[in-house]
Amino acid sequence: MRLSTTLISPLLKSAGKAGAIALVALTGAAVSQGVFADSGPVGDAAAGSKLTTACQACHGTDGNGLAPNYPNIAGQNERYLLRQLLMIQSEERSAPLMAGQLNGMSEQDLRDISAFYAAKEPKLAQAQGDDVQIAMAKQLYKGGSIEKGVAACTACHSPLGSGNAAAGFPRITGQSPEYTIAQLTAYREGVRATDEAYGAMMRQVAANLNDTEIAALADYLQGLH
Ligand code: HEC
Ligand code: HEC
Repeated sequence: MRLSTTLISPLLKSAGKAGAIALVALTGAAVSQGVFADSGPVGDAAAGSKLTTACQACHGTDGNGLAPNYPNIAGQNERYLLRQLLMIQSEERSAPLMAGQLNGMSEQDLRDISAFYAAKEPKLAQAQGDDVQIAMAKQLYKGGSIEKGVAACTACHSPLGSGNAAAGFPRITGQSPEYTIAQLTAYREGVRATDEAYGAMMRQVAANLNDTEIAALADYLQGLH
């Protein structure tokens, strides 16, 4: 079962910091009380590996992107991968470079692909920013911003950015800053306009981040581990 939209949408409508904080409290409660506790995706990694030949041109043989705009999907949790693949296939998530890649694949194929990449080793990098940038990003990551109504990333993405596999919240470490900047900006501008449950959480988080903060977070996240 997904986190129900009826459960979460009243919180999303209550704008600002109270909404953000309530949202995080709810999400934490939902996870701990097992709202998400179904069996989750059941994929066969060996079957999935046979479907990934075309993917390698961009996501590499092991799921680590070959260029900064190609996301690393190695070690990403299955639940997140499956949701994104379904949304990319149905074009609910616009990803022009992925056009046609998932044509004709069944949901079981997408489960198998998700299992394949989830079992791969994620890549790590180092933050490049100066002390001021890193301190700003760390503060936002761990504490959020009460003034701006930005919820702390750590609540959903875990202290080391490895995400929450049971809830399907993504691993966000080890991505190139280019990819992370593009995604946070797309959420802020409403361009990554996916579902009202999960996608809306990130649109609310990103709504009040400025470009400087997004760039600092993207740099910090590439090295967080
Ligand atoms: C031509 C390059 C290209 C090919 C081939 C390709 N992808 Fe992608 N993929 C991308 C890009 C670019 C994105 C990011 C889209 C965006 O900006 O939102 C992406 C996004 C994804 C995502 C979402 C990642 C995330 O962190 O949200 C998944 C999962 C994915 N691809 C899996 C696959 C699979 C499986 C295949 C093969 C069946 C494949 N891709 C083939 C370029 C490619
Ligand atoms: C309330 C929970 C929550 C909080 C707080 C949160 N996120 Fe997220 N984040 C999510 C969910 C859920 C998704 C997947 C949304 C989707 O399906 O598009 C996500 C997706 C992302 C992605 C895209 C990952 C990818 O591979 O494309 C990035 C980057 C990200 N979050 C960064 C952050 C940062 C930085 C913060 C803190 C400023 C933050 N998040 C706070 C829940 C949260």
